Amino acid sequence: MSGRIELNRKDLAEQEKCMEAVRKILLDRYPNRQPLAFVHSYGCQQNVSDGEKLCGMLAEMGYGFTNQESQADCILFNTCAVRENAEFRIFGNVGNLKRYKRVNPNLIIGLCGCMMQQEHVAKKIRESYPYVDLIFGTHASHLFPFMLKKRLEGQKHVEEIENHNGLIVEDLPVLRDGAFKAWLPVMYGCDNFCTYCIVPYVRGRERSRRPEKILEEVEQLAKKGYKEIMLLGQNVNSYGKGLEEPVDFTELLRRIDDVEGDFRVRFMTSHPKDCTREMIDTIAQSQKLCHHIHLPVQSGSNRILRQMNRCYDTKQYLDLIAYAKEKIPDVTLSSDIIVGFPGETYEDFCRTLDLIRQVEYDFLFTFIYSKRVGTKAAQMEDPVPAQEKSKWFRALLEEQSTIGQKRNEKRIGTVLQVLVDGSGKEGTGRVGGKSGGNITVEFLGDASLIGQLVNVKITQAHNWGVIGEKLE
Ligand code: 5AD
Ligand code: SF4
Repeated sequence: MSGRIELNRKDLAEQEKCMEAVRKILLDRYPNRQPLAFVHSYGCQQNVSDGEKLCGMLAEMGYGFTNQESQADCILFNTCAVRENAEFRIFGNVGNLKRYKRVNPNLIIGLCGCMMQQEHVAKKIRESYPYVDLIFGTHASHLFPFMLKKRLEGQKHVEEIENHNGLIVEDLPVLRDGAFKAWLPVMYGCDNFCTYCIVPYVRGRERSRRPEKILEEVEQLAKKGYKEIMLLGQNVNSYGKGLEEPVDFTELLRRIDDVEGDFRVRFMTSHPKDCTREMIDTIAQSQKLCHHIHLPVQSGSNRILRQMNRCYDTKQYLDLIAYAKEKIPDVTLSSDIIVGFPGETYEDFCRTLDLIRQVEYDFLFTFIYSKRVGTKAAQMEDPVPAQEKSKWFRALLEEQSTIGQKRNEKRIGTVLQVLVDGSGKEGTGRVGGKSGGNITVEFLGDASLIGQLVNVKITQAHNWGVIGEKLE
């Protein structure tokens, strides 16, 4: 089992002792009320899932929760480093916390997650935001109780930002945000080193959880009545490398599909170079796997794909898409696209437009390239002005809006199974949710339907989703 270090409950005994110690200190410090924590996770679902574990630990240590920073005794920002905008926003929000600390000197402020795993960021926090008490990276979440204990015992600043490659931590307490949708990480890290991306640097090398631990969690979630499980990994379909038992992602999907219960399963993110026809066949034949494939292409230009180190070309990509459409006729397709990668020309960008017209995605996640310190692309010439990139970006959104509308029009008259997750657009009296294909569906109904799977006949199409009528 090369490069894989698994910690379980037994190995975490030290952390359990720290949790116990923190609980005692808090009882002493807050004899008449429960101390409150505010936790915010920025960025991707993996980060949200990490945040649920931090909340699990906080709950075990005796904290309650608040969604108002001003009420909190402990504030944790679980940060994201994938684009510069996210970092700016986080720095701004950390700056705002200073006033809360002035009012409440006992307030503990912690920053964790991907941004902290970059040395230059940790340095900036140390130097410019000295009122931050705890700094810890993605490799040290499980050490949170130990760090909090040290801080509560009087140490001014506690930091854990070392890179522990290969670490998998099982059996941490989890406090899930939702009662019917659950995130379930199956692997961590990424080995792909796409040239624009910071993730391999901040989340370390790929490592997969053992299938039995994953299946155990799926079974527990099914028993608790969860209706949707999202399997997570930066590159889910390279699941299985380094495991003792040879189980690849397709086999994992088959085993999950066999778990009893009334729930559906999604996964993200797939990398086109690791997406096999066998995986597509498995989705087609399964009972519980949603008919949605999120397959980020990033660019429609082979030249740019090479510069990005994506390891596929547009032909290979389009062949996979054609196969998916053939085997799963109602498949929903989505993608991530980066506009304005260093050296991208208008002709390259037009190839991206051509590709999205050809695939006819149901929806896209679109990004303007953001330079990340330490990546290969950060060294590349980037002559196109930001204004020009914004123009291309708007053209891409417009094109996709037309395609999305057209795709949704084809849904009129069909019946979609919807997991209702909240209200629809304000003032309409509608509730809304996602279909198996991850299409936004709204229909007239009341809040009692939230958390249920219902069948909806589609009557209207928009570029953002569809509207329908609930079938009895
Ligand atoms: N700039 C812009 N977008 C990026 N992504 C990752 N890194 C960057 C970056 N430096 C996008 C990719 C990826 C998604 C999660 O974020 O499209 O698939
Ligand atoms: Fe980043 Fe590429 Fe890994 Fe995705 S596959 S996390 S884009 S390096």
